[in-house]
Amino acid sequence: MPVLETKYLTKEYRMGEVTVSALRGVDFSVERGEFVAIMGPSGSGKSTLLHLLGGLDPPTDGEICLAGQMLSELNDDQITRFRRRKIGFIFQFYNLIPTLTAAENVALPLLIDGQSKRHYRERIQDLLALVNLADRADHRPDQLSGGQQQRVAIARAFVNQPEIVLADEPTGNLDSRSGTTILELLRKTCQELGATILMVTHDARAASYADRIVFLQDGCIVHQLEDNGNGIEVQDIMSILAELEL
Ligand SMILES: Nc1ncnc2c1ncn2[C@@H]1O[C@H](COP(=O)(O)OP(=O)(O)O)[C@@H](O)[C@H]1O
Ligand SMILES: [Mg+2]
Repeated sequence: MPVLETKYLTKEYRMGEVTVSALRGVDFSVERGEFVAIMGPSGSGKSTLLHLLGGLDPPTDGEICLAGQMLSELNDDQITRFRRRKIGFIFQFYNLIPTLTAAENVALPLLIDGQSKRHYRERIQDLLALVNLADRADHRPDQLSGGQQQRVAIARAFVNQPEIVLADEPTGNLDSRSGTTILELLRKTCQELGATILMVTHDARAASYADRIVFLQDGCIVHQLEDNGNGIEVQDIMSILAELEL
């Protein structure tokens, strides 16, 4: 069974007289352990899709089933709890709490969930080691580089052992070397933690790290490209983008 499945996922934004169709009946699924990239031009619905999948905004029509749970069956409180326990988020601008240390930022989702500190001290250390920041546990965000801050954000996204991690342009604010480190790290978390990742990006090089790329245009899936075992070539992604005139 896929960890994530959408059926006819539809989102319309009504603004006075005007209705914008951001997603038009998207059918799509993600298998456990998959690293999927979503590509598409600005305004194609990528962020809307992540917001809906993360239960941050309800769809206008259609269904989302995540880890066997239909999101539409949950009320607001239940969806908040479900999100905390089952979903990890990585944002373009890291979204760390400036007054907390790296270790405290990583622990935050567990603290919010009411878990006791002594139960997870070891897990925080393991995660900081996984992202190569074991020696920066007591640093605050302003004492870390952009790439290091994003690595803290990755450790935080995985701390509650989520069913899926949703990442919106995680390398969008980084130089290419730091971006490469982040992408390699995301690959590694899939392999070593058996994590499932859905990453939005407009960067073909970033998308080439994924197992599968889903191309969105005007709120519809217009193409998919899958790794046949040798990795996805940036050149193949560029050809598809050119063919689709994206
Ligand atoms: N909160 C909102 N209110 C009204 N329109 C929105 C809102 N969010 C997104 N849109 C519109 O929905 C479409 C898809 O936007 P978005 O999902 O942000 O695309 P992307 O992330 O691919 O750039 C765009 O036309 C955008 O203007
Ligand atoms: Mg966006």
